[in-house]
Amino acid sequence: MSKFVVNGGHKIKGELRITGAKNSVLPILSATVLNGKINVIHDIPDLSDVEVMIKILESVGCKVKRENGTIIVDSRQLNNHKIPEELVREMRSSIIVLGPMLARCGQVVVSYPGGCELGPRPIDLHLKSLRQMGVHILEKHGFLICSVKKELVGCEIHLDFPSVGATENIMLAAVFAKGNTIIRNAAREPEIQDLQNFINAMGGKVSGAGSATIVIEGVDELHDVEHTIIPDRIVAGTYLVAGAMTKGEIVLTNIIPEHLLSTIYKLKESGCNIEYTKDTIKLIAPSKLRAIEAIKTLPYPGFPTDMQSQFMSLLAISDGISIIKENIFENRYKHAYELIRMGANIKIDGRVAIIKGVHKLTGANVKARDLRGGASLILAGLVAEGTTTIHNIEHIKRGYAHIEKDLRMVGADIYKM
Ligand code: EPZ
Repeated sequence: MSKFVVNGGHKIKGELRITGAKNSVLPILSATVLNGKINVIHDIPDLSDVEVMIKILESVGCKVKRENGTIIVDSRQLNNHKIPEELVREMRSSIIVLGPMLARCGQVVVSYPGGCELGPRPIDLHLKSLRQMGVHILEKHGFLICSVKKELVGCEIHLDFPSVGATENIMLAAVFAKGNTIIRNAAREPEIQDLQNFINAMGGKVSGAGSATIVIEGVDELHDVEHTIIPDRIVAGTYLVAGAMTKGEIVLTNIIPEHLLSTIYKLKESGCNIEYTKDTIKLIAPSKLRAIEAIKTLPYPGFPTDMQSQFMSLLAISDGISIIKENIFENRYKHAYELIRMGANIKIDGRVAIIKGVHKLTGANVKARDLRGGASLILAGLVAEGTTTIHNIEHIKRGYAHIEKDLRMVGADIYKM
């Protein structure tokens, strides 16, 4: 099994270009099922989760070509509606194929998505919303057997929680539905706006993404589309934290700063100097990071849960006591126990983490338990005294394309074994 080896003590200094967002490309690839035409999508990151989604598209009959950072999906001939169980279990977010498959074919069978490393991630909001639109869902032997008896009918749906995946599934299921569908308490993430732009570029009629109310007007058909994925705000935030922790200086290009303002402001709170233009961000780290009184993860535009692990590493070496409250996922602190092996002073009490900054971390053998937790261990290794070896890096490759090459390019001593 591959691992990352990091020798700490090197400043991050230099410039990196951010590529397309994992959490945008996955729902957009799923949406290519809708139009039965040709879909050209640019700035696709080289991630294992993207590979899984491509396999899912091919399993229903799509023809997929990859040319460097561009993917071409031909969805004219679909010939299967049963998604292979091993693919759904490999990637929880493959549940996002429900909506477009029901809109295009009126039926789909998927296995109940595997439990996720972040705690139980139910899909009750997805199923309740689709049933409200007229989908018949039979849950049997660990499979969801979904069919549209008559037709998908637009309706008003109120989400108990602004679930990103549920918002996306409803948007996709509603594209051809009869009449209008209104989503109340919708997720407001930038990736939802990117999905709206993609659906509209293929001839759909969606409005309101980015706000809590999204309206989808049913249309009869869609056409070819070409689209470029928005940059990955979480990869960008991760690299900014790397610059901050190593007392370095980093410039990011091809990024939309307003997509990560909550991260930028928390980095400023820790003493970083940050300037940004419409598509670049420059961070200059302080000589000593300050503790941050409180970080609470919230739905967008609040502080993102996907940046929680990375900030825990930063706070582990900041001057003072910091508190994190993880409000989105039940079990997203596994990385804390690995950081403690490196000398961090962290106490976990349910959804609250209390981090007392230490003077230094020491290199150790640690294990990635989930995607962002794995990234936080790389960040800790950048500043730890000695060598850190990070195992189970397949988790990290789900969301970071060649993170070791990027960090090496800006001064880190990290390599894959
Ligand atoms: C998306 O996951 C992202 N994944 C996650 O990023 C991100 O952390 C999450 O949104 C929150 O921002 C992708 O976009 C592929 P949710 P998703 O539905 O859609 C509960 C990463 O690191 N919930 O907003 O699964 C759920 O249990 C990944 O890139 C229900 O209770 O997130 C969780 O506690 C990790 N019932 C909370 O809502 C439902 O039907 C947030 O889930 C659906 C969700």
